[in-house]
Amino acid sequence: MKVGVYTSGGDAPGMNACIRAVVRTALHAGKSVVGIYQGYQGMIDANFEEMTSRSVSNIIQLGGTILKTARCAAFRTAEGRQQAYEHIKAAGIDALIGIGGDGTFSGAEVFSREFDIPVICIPGTIDNDLYGSDFTLGYDTATNTVIEAIDKIRDTAASHDRLFFVEVMGRDSGCIALNAGIAGGAEAILLPEKSMGIDTLCSQLETAANSKKASTIVIVAEGEENGGAYKVAKEVKERFDFYDTKVTILGHLQRGGSPSSFDRVLASRLGYAAVKRLLAGESRVMVGLWGNEIKATPLEEVLNRKVFKLSEDMLEMMEVLSI
Ligand code: F6P
Repeated sequence: MKVGVYTSGGDAPGMNACIRAVVRTALHAGKSVVGIYQGYQGMIDANFEEMTSRSVSNIIQLGGTILKTARCAAFRTAEGRQQAYEHIKAAGIDALIGIGGDGTFSGAEVFSREFDIPVICIPGTIDNDLYGSDFTLGYDTATNTVIEAIDKIRDTAASHDRLFFVEVMGRDSGCIALNAGIAGGAEAILLPEKSMGIDTLCSQLETAANSKKASTIVIVAEGEENGGAYKVAKEVKERFDFYDTKVTILGHLQRGGSPSSFDRVLASRLGYAAVKRLLAGESRVMVGLWGNEIKATPLEEVLNRKVFKLSEDMLEMMEVLSI
């Protein structure tokens, strides 16, 4: 067996630790491993490299992905996938391990069915928005990055008695926003999954102002319904002109950085499990963490089940703790 490993979609801290685990577990089992650069684009372009144990030395602590990544539109077409298959076959690759999010998984699922290639997927995205794993690679690191930023903003916000709107990533997922908001002591959090209009936000801010808070921080997830931090800040300022408002968009800095110990361990466990499952003959599954166990879920189920990882309890608690 020759295993091809690739990363695809948005990079996430922990991807390198996971590549390392896949490569070394496969080599340990006497299989050879090929690194596929730039995800599906690399299959179409035949951008491959034979991996040795030394190819993955000294990468466990690095953010990003040494295999690079891409969002590849050509792979959504039958012609693109046919070309990818021909290159993979010519390189002798007969099984795949893909690390990424739902876009990566839908590509893997179709490709595996069309060309009868075994494939195992590993959840890697800072959004933590996949069914079948309590956590995805990169989410813990990204949340810690956001908390560090909130702490710093709090220093200056308190010094000037200011109201800050901090926009965090998560187009469809409020996991980073909610958890970083709680850990950073935010006064309010706007999430994509739960509607909160400007009226409700303003009444929460009024409560904060009445309790003589020196600073107020509102976390705005990028996909929430009011249109993002700048718009929300403008509307609030129009109603409460006594507030000195500021906006910080954290953006892509949330995707970088050295992975946390949690992400490194999770990446190692999932990479190891993916190879083991492949060798045991499994295919078209995603390995994930349930409780503290590694389990496999069919890709079809991962793609079709809607996931809601926010708890109403936590939302309520956030309000209570911010008074
Ligand atoms: O899926 C991860 C993520 O970082 C989202 O939170 C964000 O909306 C998106 O990727 C940004 O993608 P890109 O880097 O392609 O602009």
